[in-house]
Amino acid sequence: MMTTAAASTGIGLTSPWNPTKLINNFDKQRPKWMNLPNQSSSSSRVTKMAASVDEKLKTFTLQKSEEAFNKAKELMPGGVNSPVRAFKSVGGQPIVIDSVKGSHMTDIDGNVYIDYVGSWGPAIIGHADDKVLAALAETMKKGTSFGAPCLLENVLAEMVISAVPSIEMVRFVNSGTEACMGVLRLARAFTGRQKIIKFEGCYHGHADAFLVKAGSGVATLGLPDSPGVPKAATSETLTSPYNDIATVQSLFEANKGEIAAVILEPVVGNSGFIPPQPDFLNALRKITKENDALLIFDEVMTGFRISYGGAQEYFGITPDLTTLGKIIGGGLPVGAYGGRRDIMEMVAPAGPMYQAGTLSGNPLAMTAGIHTLKRLMEPGTYEYLDEITSELTQGILNAGKKSGHTICGGYISGMFGFFFTDGPVYNFEDAKKSDTTKFARFYRGMLEEGVYFAPSQFEAGFTSLAHSSVDIEQTIAAAERVLRRL
Ligand SMILES: Cc1ncc(COP(=O)(O)O)c(C=O)c1O
Repeated sequence: MMTTAAASTGIGLTSPWNPTKLINNFDKQRPKWMNLPNQSSSSSRVTKMAASVDEKLKTFTLQKSEEAFNKAKELMPGGVNSPVRAFKSVGGQPIVIDSVKGSHMTDIDGNVYIDYVGSWGPAIIGHADDKVLAALAETMKKGTSFGAPCLLENVLAEMVISAVPSIEMVRFVNSGTEACMGVLRLARAFTGRQKIIKFEGCYHGHADAFLVKAGSGVATLGLPDSPGVPKAATSETLTSPYNDIATVQSLFEANKGEIAAVILEPVVGNSGFIPPQPDFLNALRKITKENDALLIFDEVMTGFRISYGGAQEYFGITPDLTTLGKIIGGGLPVGAYGGRRDIMEMVAPAGPMYQAGTLSGNPLAMTAGIHTLKRLMEPGTYEYLDEITSELTQGILNAGKKSGHTICGGYISGMFGFFFTDGPVYNFEDAKKSDTTKFARFYRGMLEEGVYFAPSQFEAGFTSLAHSSVDIEQTIAAAERVLRRL
């Protein structure tokens, strides 16, 4: 078993950005996973697992999932309540989940999967953590919603403020979408300007102004933009390729004094996993300052995942405003935006910028968030995520190369991704060169082997503290089998 103390990874809460980890083509990377203990002692266990996997393949059926999903399609658009879940880009029908625990999910046919979606990010300490569940049960005894201030809001607010460098004040909302809507209105209110710059392939929720070149969900469905979004809502949204500082510079020159903010995913997860190039974030910080515009990190995905203080702590770049979601709700619906006190004091009722919410600061969501962050604060957590994610990513890339596939990928902490293309992948255009047909076949093969990845080439994957070295070995062994027969 790997231990949290094993092999110093060089990536910790305060360690400097190590660009060698961020190169998309893994051939160029420092092979530090080679030093991990028990790396080669697992072969007999893997052989045993292969036998049991063969058994599993024989019994693999999705009959109940198929029946349930066919019914769901009559009841809900596309049978789902969020589009990527529908498996459109990987074919077949989605599995219908019965329960989750730790690193595993069980569907209604009884198939068990090692899960690398983690409810799209929140499950960083593992699904249905015992301590989180116990705390929720205690809070629930007092009620499910107050619609009035509660102490738990103070506790989570203090935890968020002390963790995230840019956040001096915070407002809790109910989703990442809401957080991004709020932060956009705030940036416009504070600067008195209308225009924003976003990056192609970055997703900031489904508010009208952001549905321009919005990455995974929209790309997966092959929609250029969404009908129903008024032209006026996006006319002030300027776009640039990710990692392209020259385009950002020219947008500022062409729109002098008009740009309120630049918003981005500091590590992209919504075009697949794409890290920022060295100096990209720094250059954005400089340009926004020079032009009196605000820099907004959308850390709905990266917050408390890349490191405890998010991507801004990991890279040492402090934006003016930050959005959060996913992990800070520990699996319950939550979002948040926060930042400089002078900006946040514009938010109602402290200031004139209006934004409200019936369930905002909900005691159950606050409780799950508090206990999830407490677990993440324990020593060694991010080192452990780094270690297992390194092993997983490298194992899949090696398996691909051994079977003659072009493949590249990368990871930071508990976030990873790979593409069926040579790479390097710097932006969404590069990501789209990936062989998505091959990805779909790989995806279905892995599902049958009991491994659940995000059902789209254009989504990052997530590991959790509940993933064991056995989970990782099993996943790599499954990837080797699937990639061999592709
Ligand atoms: C970076 C980012 N911003 C915003 C959102 C929207 O969050 P939600 O789905 O909670 O509305 C997401 C969702 O995946 C996201 O990844």
